[in-house]
Amino acid sequence: MAKKLYIETQGCQMNEYDSSRMADLLGDTHGMELTTNPEEADVLLLNTCSIREKAQEKVFSQLGRWRKLKAARPEVVIGVGGCVASQEGAAIQKRAPYVDLVFGPQTLHRLPQMLNARDSKKITMVDVSFPENEKFDFLPEPRVDGYKAFVSIMEGCSKYCSFCVVPYTRGEEISRPFDDVIAEIAVLAGKGVREVTLLGQNVNGFRGPHHDGTICSFAELLRHVAGIPGIDRIRYTTSHPLEFNDDLIAVYADTPKLVSHLHLPVQSGSNAVLAGMKRNHTAADYLERIRKLKAVRPDIHISSDFIIGFPGETEQDFMDTMQLISDVDYDHSYSFIYSKRPGTPAAELPDDTPDEVKKQRLQILKDQIARNTGRKTDAMIGSRQRLLVDRKSERMPGHLIGIAENTRWVHFPCADENLIGKFVDVDITKAISINALCASAPLWIES
Ligand code: SAH
Ligand code: F3S
Repeated sequence: MAKKLYIETQGCQMNEYDSSRMADLLGDTHGMELTTNPEEADVLLLNTCSIREKAQEKVFSQLGRWRKLKAARPEVVIGVGGCVASQEGAAIQKRAPYVDLVFGPQTLHRLPQMLNARDSKKITMVDVSFPENEKFDFLPEPRVDGYKAFVSIMEGCSKYCSFCVVPYTRGEEISRPFDDVIAEIAVLAGKGVREVTLLGQNVNGFRGPHHDGTICSFAELLRHVAGIPGIDRIRYTTSHPLEFNDDLIAVYADTPKLVSHLHLPVQSGSNAVLAGMKRNHTAADYLERIRKLKAVRPDIHISSDFIIGFPGETEQDFMDTMQLISDVDYDHSYSFIYSKRPGTPAAELPDDTPDEVKKQRLQILKDQIARNTGRKTDAMIGSRQRLLVDRKSERMPGHLIGIAENTRWVHFPCADENLIGKFVDVDITKAISINALCASAPLWIES
């Protein structure tokens, strides 16, 4: 009988992507099948996140639960991957000696060998090194279920923002070769994928080598992806304001397949805080980029990440952030209170803002952005939207759900499940929550 694999994923979309590649890989080499039930799994993998303290704490509580499963069935293999593994390495096993494998984001392709070695020698395997790009050469072709796919185009980060662990856990920025990325997307398109999300910590820092040694920019890559037959929607995440250059804005002007939705993290609207964070730009620089972008895509929806309570953040700094939020008119945000990360430069800075004040600021910010989300959803009523049909609506029988370019969920009357994975045009009739809407029956269905 096929062995069962259970993967628990914490953190970002890069981790989600890595987890699905682990499943593909062990399916290929060991015939393993994914299960959603940890109790029946032969191999349990935890793909960890260390971006904030809370994320890191979750690792050992999860491992504690798995320890009981292993006590009942000692043959169970427990592996820890991702950013906590990368940072802690062998120290993981000091604290949790029942862990069998420790691997980093760049060594997950060595999982099959690690498993085999562990089976024959019954010793613990730790490999959290950073072999450049080797990972992608050893991964099988991605398996596809559905119409959307993630494609990693670069790994790591070399920006070294003062608060962030990513450059230490995932290593320096390294881009995949242009041909590999295009070939992977063409394969996905051949299997029915219609929407791709290009992934990386700073996708607009992409510098993928062509086979002749010249370098492909992110803007150029986007145009090539848009040229792949079958791919009709392109998203990407995450990009950095510094490299959000005119070439990239020009792609928005001439490439409609690139969605009118952009996640461009700014972290703060205060120049003093931005300098302390080592973001290397000002609030005005950011706003200028956004204005240029809106000039070519007036309907674009913009989201951001914010860090509240960075060491030394004053009331005025916070007000500057709120001002930027109003100037950009954000649609959505992922906002968190600053979390001190050991080994990062900001961890040395004095931090005397009381927790209560940070929590209040975060709440004010979140309330403001939630009002924006609702207002922008309401503003869609009466508009015509193109949806990628995703699934049957559970909430409204006889309806399907499609996703608009700006990521809103739209329910529309239609019983024909053959439309799933196709594009339709609908007229929006009403809002049913701050980010979901209802619409007419399809006015146009792609053939
Ligand atoms: N590459 C992206 C960010 C990746 S990390 C960029 O250019 O911004 C994802 C988000 O986690 C960051 O945008 C930041 O808002 C948040 N984050 C990172 N380190 C953090 C910390 N120490 N405390 C709180 N939030 C943090
Ligand atoms: Fe982190 Fe800054 Fe890179 S937030 S991922 S160091 S761009």
